[in-house]
Amino acid sequence: MAGLLERAVTSGPGRAVAGRLGLAEPPHLRRGRALPAGPVVLASLAGSDLAARSLAILGLAPGSPVLDGTLLDGTVLDGTGEDPAPAYQGHIGALVVDARGLVTIAGLEKLRAVLRPAMRALEASGRVVLLADADVEGPEASAVHQALDGINRTVGKELRGGATTNLVHIPSDLDPGDLASTLSFLLEGRSAFVDGQAWTVGPSSSLASALPKSALAPEIPGASGRFGSEGADEGGEERHAPLAGRVVVVTGAARGIGAQIATVAARDGATVVCVDVPAAGEPLAALANQLRGSALQQDVTSPEAGERIAAHVASRHGGAGIHGMVHNAGITRDKLLVNTDARRWSQVLEVNLAAQLRINQALLDGRAGGITDGGRLVSIASTSGIAGNKGQANYAASKAGVIGHVRALAPELAGRRITVNAVAPGFIETEMTAKIPFVQREVFRRANSLGQGGQPVDVAETICYFLQPASGGVTGQVIRVCGQNLVGQ
Ligand SMILES: NC(=O)c1ccc[n+]([C@@H]2O[C@H](COP(=O)([O-])OP(=O)(O)OC[C@H]3O[C@@H](n4cnc5c(N)ncnc54)[C@H](O)[C@@H]3O)[C@@H](O)[C@H]2O)c1
Repeated sequence: MAGLLERAVTSGPGRAVAGRLGLAEPPHLRRGRALPAGPVVLASLAGSDLAARSLAILGLAPGSPVLDGTLLDGTVLDGTGEDPAPAYQGHIGALVVDARGLVTIAGLEKLRAVLRPAMRALEASGRVVLLADADVEGPEASAVHQALDGINRTVGKELRGGATTNLVHIPSDLDPGDLASTLSFLLEGRSAFVDGQAWTVGPSSSLASALPKSALAPEIPGASGRFGSEGADEGGEERHAPLAGRVVVVTGAARGIGAQIATVAARDGATVVCVDVPAAGEPLAALANQLRGSALQQDVTSPEAGERIAAHVASRHGGAGIHGMVHNAGITRDKLLVNTDARRWSQVLEVNLAAQLRINQALLDGRAGGITDGGRLVSIASTSGIAGNKGQANYAASKAGVIGHVRALAPELAGRRITVNAVAPGFIETEMTAKIPFVQREVFRRANSLGQGGQPVDVAETICYFLQPASGGVTGQVIRVCGQNLVGQ
């Protein structure tokens, strides 16, 4: 039950007081498969056509394209004087900036010129997507590469109304098909709580470029290419099944983030195997039935957990094996290190880290019901594993360990076209975080660029982006789902 203070702040008069204390209502975030309502504006700053070709694969013909800071109608954006008003002819839904080939400090002016009017014109829950070179050479190009990161992080902190920005690093000669699942994720509401992040999309030897357009493009009734609306997306009707015919295993699926991962994977067409401890058997079975998947009562710390998961998949779901293995099960046993005994230490490291390594080892040895070539491994880390967190030395060790494991395993498994990635959630509203005392919880919840806690579905959507067959070029990455948490790194 909510505490006295929490109830006071969420009551009518309490809300007014909370507003005056800087605890105003956070913005509503566009979620799900909905695209922005306004046009997607494309700015190509140094002649790259990759973004345009990738957007075309998604059926998105950009409105008002910008070249070198000049709108196609000849309007120069910003320049040295006043901005033309309104620079983008009213609200825009997203600004995609293709900055590949931008290697000089002087060239950064072009980025400022297209971003500045967008800061005003971007609709609520709008998007800025920056595309930059992954590999650059020379001191000035390297400086510019890092400058783009600083700009991305700052824009995330300045945007309002639930709008976000993210930066994608791209190696030369990338097939536009390899970028499409990432652009689709970033533009849609699926990336609602991913803000101020940067990651790399590489070439994929997977199915991405061979996939039919319908496997990548959002299908929104009434949408004419580049427009979609949140309203049009409501109703939960399944229109899009990139994981159809594939088995996805989710540990810790009985509740919280794990239950949402299973639900979103099933929405995307997967046959889901829900794994959790026997004590959670009832909600586990209910969820598996609801999703038409199967339930496996299994403690992940058992030495035979990997073997049992493979045997379950082989017997219940035929010989296809596992497409996606999602290591979500996790626990906290928080104490200052000075009070952390060996038991609290080992429990957390066992569940959150050691179990994953053992299970992966068993599922990757080629046995029936194991992970197939072209499969996906996804782990849940935490911002605590990136920035550290007082009272969580055991938890931070386990989650940082997850990141190390993912980065080491990705190149090892590239030859089998298996991708390995992690999400690092910040503050997500679950039973785990409901245990945090209210004042502390409210501070964690608000201390990010979006001014609110994330929902389990935000983590689930990011994981399902990794799971997509079309995301074969995304591996060894750690994406924070934290609304650009302001604490730590
Ligand atoms: N909630 C957050 O803010 C947050 C932030 C960062 C990371 N995470 C991570 O996300 C994951 C899910 O978190 P949540 O908030 O949904 O937690 P939760 O406590 O609500 O759910 C965790 C689930 O894992 C299961 N589980 C625990 N130990 C297990 C074991 N040995 N074998 C099998 N299942 C086991 C539990 O029974 C439970 O169903 C965890 O790895 C957590 O560390 C959560």
